[in-house]
Amino acid sequence: MKVLTRVYEVKQNIRPIKQKGIKIAFVPTMGALHQGHIELLKQARFYAHFVVLSIFVNPTQFGGNEDYDKYPRDLDNDILTIKKNNIPVDCVFAPSVQEMYPFLEIPQLTLPFLSQKLCGLSRPTHFDGVGLVVLKLLNIVQPDFLIMGQKDYQQTVIIQRLIDEFFIDTQLITIPTVRESDGLALSSRNIYLNAEERENALILYKTLNSIQKELKIGMNALQIQSLLKKYRETFAQNGFVKLDYLEILDAYNLVPIQEIQRGSKILIAIAAYIGKTRLIDNMVLEI
Ligand code: PAF
Repeated sequence: MKVLTRVYEVKQNIRPIKQKGIKIAFVPTMGALHQGHIELLKQARFYAHFVVLSIFVNPTQFGGNEDYDKYPRDLDNDILTIKKNNIPVDCVFAPSVQEMYPFLEIPQLTLPFLSQKLCGLSRPTHFDGVGLVVLKLLNIVQPDFLIMGQKDYQQTVIIQRLIDEFFIDTQLITIPTVRESDGLALSSRNIYLNAEERENALILYKTLNSIQKELKIGMNALQIQSLLKKYRETFAQNGFVKLDYLEILDAYNLVPIQEIQRGSKILIAIAAYIGKTRLIDNMVLEI
């Protein structure tokens, strides 16, 4: 496994692989690797013989008041995790900020509709930064397959749109969320939770499950709204958890659902602050 920090080195290593016709799968991450990332990497090997992992805490996707400085960074430990678990990675790309953003002026990339919904409401510039860095990474690695987790569902919708918009030759593969045995979705931010908050965090998964059971074919927009109202109110009474959003949307384009029909693909998405930590989770139902 090679660990590279320079764009030209990655390109040099990728070129002969592509020339030989070997398929490449790419897993972009911000490090602090956990079981969820390990699952993405294992799936990546399933799709391709050459697996590239990037580890880069991307400054442009953090807002001014967010946890960019505090975000966990430990490249040596991430590499150890890969080796200890025998994870199939051929190349790790861990660039500096200067390497990824060599010019003082940073371009803007905006998808006004998709990126301002859900997480975009409280993180208005987040997806512009995600889109920008993923576009740069895709240009560097030129993978046949881009492997991402369903936990960041909105991110996958936006990246799919960019792939289509910029005619990028890569296939996005979305891997189901990996959960703790009690249902909590794995996240690098879970390490911020103390024992009590860890317990309170289960409300996200429980809420998704309860809503899933109540959704029925034939439900209209009004009925969906009153269901959401009921669940949002339970959060208002919970002093330990502050709801950011709870939505039921069309999973393809993130618009409200007029009626649940056979063939509908539905996203139930939730974000909440557990103490100071903001966690997200979702469920995608194919009716
Ligand atoms: O999902 C993440 O970890 C990040 O948003 C990504 C895709 C690596 C871009 O920085």
